[in-house]
Amino acid sequence: MSGIVYRKWAYEDILAIAELEKKCFSDPWSFSMLADTFFNENVLTAAAEEGGKIVGYGFVVSAGEDADLANIAVDENFRRRGIAAGILDNLEGAAASAGVKRIFLEVRVSNAAAMSLYLKRGYIGRYVRPRYYGDGEDALIMQKDL
Ligand SMILES: CC(C)(COP(=O)(O)OP(=O)(O)OC[C@H]1O[C@@H](n2cnc3c(N)ncnc32)[C@H](O)[C@@H]1OP(=O)(O)O)[C@@H](O)C(=O)NCCC(=O)NCCS
Repeated sequence: MSGIVYRKWAYEDILAIAELEKKCFSDPWSFSMLADTFFNENVLTAAAEEGGKIVGYGFVVSAGEDADLANIAVDENFRRRGIAAGILDNLEGAAASAGVKRIFLEVRVSNAAAMSLYLKRGYIGRYVRPRYYGDGEDALIMQKDL
């Protein structure tokens, strides 16, 4: 999609990312959790920017050959334009360059939009983790081999 720039997070982005977290999730990461993440050397980040505004972001926590896609979200006014797919492309490319072989993620079993995004991008469902989320919802664990 024209006009969208993909890049790593800058420290100055974290406030905007924390605001988007609050809009997109019932259990958002706080500013300080996101700041800790930013400074964690095992974290790979990607942000999508349009006209100087952060419209989507994601990050992956790596542990050797395995990594966890911890979060991905796109501003609701910018959805269905391929931005999440672009963020995943960026994160998977960075992870592969860092030696990661497998990416795992957890998704709420009610989150059909995210699940179809991941299925389309080659992730497969591995197993369900019952009551994984604080509100009691189950998580589906998905995996992609890079
Ligand atoms: C899930 C989310 C990140 C998708 O972002 P997006 O930028 O709209 O996704 P894309 O445009 O890249 O979509 C790629 C594909 O995913 C699937 N998809 C995305 N949103 C969908 C929806 N609402 N319903 C069905 N399929 C959907 C489609 O196959 C889509 O391809 P298409 O548009 O060509 O049909 C976004 O809806 C979001 O931020 N949701 C709230 C946060 C969240 O749930 N994050 C995931 C946590 S596990």
